[in-house]
Amino acid sequence: MSANQPGMATHGSPSMKGSEAAKYSALETLRDGRRVEIRALRPDDRADLIAAVARSSAQSLYRRFFEIKRHFTEPEIEFFLNVDFVDHVALVAVVEENGRPVVIGGARYVVVQPGKAEVAFALIDQYQGHGIGAALLRHLASIARSAGLEELIAEVLPDNIPMLKVFEKGGFPMTTRHEFQVVHVSLRLR
Ligand SMILES: CC(C)(COP(=O)(O)OP(=O)(O)OC[C@H]1O[C@@H](n2cnc3c(N)ncnc32)[C@H](O)[C@@H]1OP(=O)(O)O)[C@@H](O)C(=O)NCCC(=O)NCCS
Repeated sequence: MSANQPGMATHGSPSMKGSEAAKYSALETLRDGRRVEIRALRPDDRADLIAAVARSSAQSLYRRFFEIKRHFTEPEIEFFLNVDFVDHVALVAVVEENGRPVVIGGARYVVVQPGKAEVAFALIDQYQGHGIGAALLRHLASIARSAGLEELIAEVLPDNIPMLKVFEKGGFPMTTRHEFQVVHVSLRLR
C-alpha cells in the first residue's frame, strides 16, 4: 500500500523547519502565460480539495488512488489535511477562476524511512499538460532537499505516461523497477 494513502504511519526525518515549509509559496508562469501559485496546503483548503476531486475524471482518480475514489471518510480527509510539513509535506496549485483563487491540484510527500519519501500528484484534468506537474515536482523536491532527504520514490501505473515523463524530465537521476502492474520510481536528490 502506498504511503500516500490514509492509514499509513510516517517516519521521522532530519528536517528543514516544518514551519518554513508550512509557509511555502511561489509563483509560476506557464508557457501560455497563465499564473499559478504553488503554495503549502492549509487546513482551510478542505472544501477546495473535495471540489477538485469532484472535478477530476475517473482515469485521473484511478491513477492517483489506484481506485476510482470520490468519497472520503473523515479519517481519510484528516490524513490529507493534517500535514505536519516535516514527515508529510503537501503543496497545492492555485489558479484564478472567475476572479477567485481555486485549488486545482497538488502534490505531497510522506517520509517512509529516514532520508526517503514517497510522492504523489493530482491535478484536475483541464489543468493537466500545462507544466504544473513539473513545477510541483520542482518545488516539492526543493523542500525535500532542504529537509535533508536523499530520495523520492513513487508508485506509478505503467500506462501513466504523463507522470513518468514528469519524473524523467525532473532532472534527477532516476531508476525504475516494474513489479505487479506498478512502476516503482526512485529519484536521487543528492
Ligand atoms: C501526472 C500529472 C501530475 C502530470 O502533471 P501535468 O501538469 O499534467 O504534466 P506536465 O504538463 O508538467 O508535463 C510534464 C511533461 O510530461 C509530458 N506529458 C504531459 N502530459 C502528457 C501526455 N498526456 N502524454 C505524453 N506526455 C505528456 C510532457 O513531456 C511534459 O513535458 P513538456 O511540457 O516539456 O512537453 C497530471 O497529469 C495528473 O494529475 N494526472 C492524474 C493523477 C495522476 O496520474 N497522479 C499520479 C499519481 S503518482
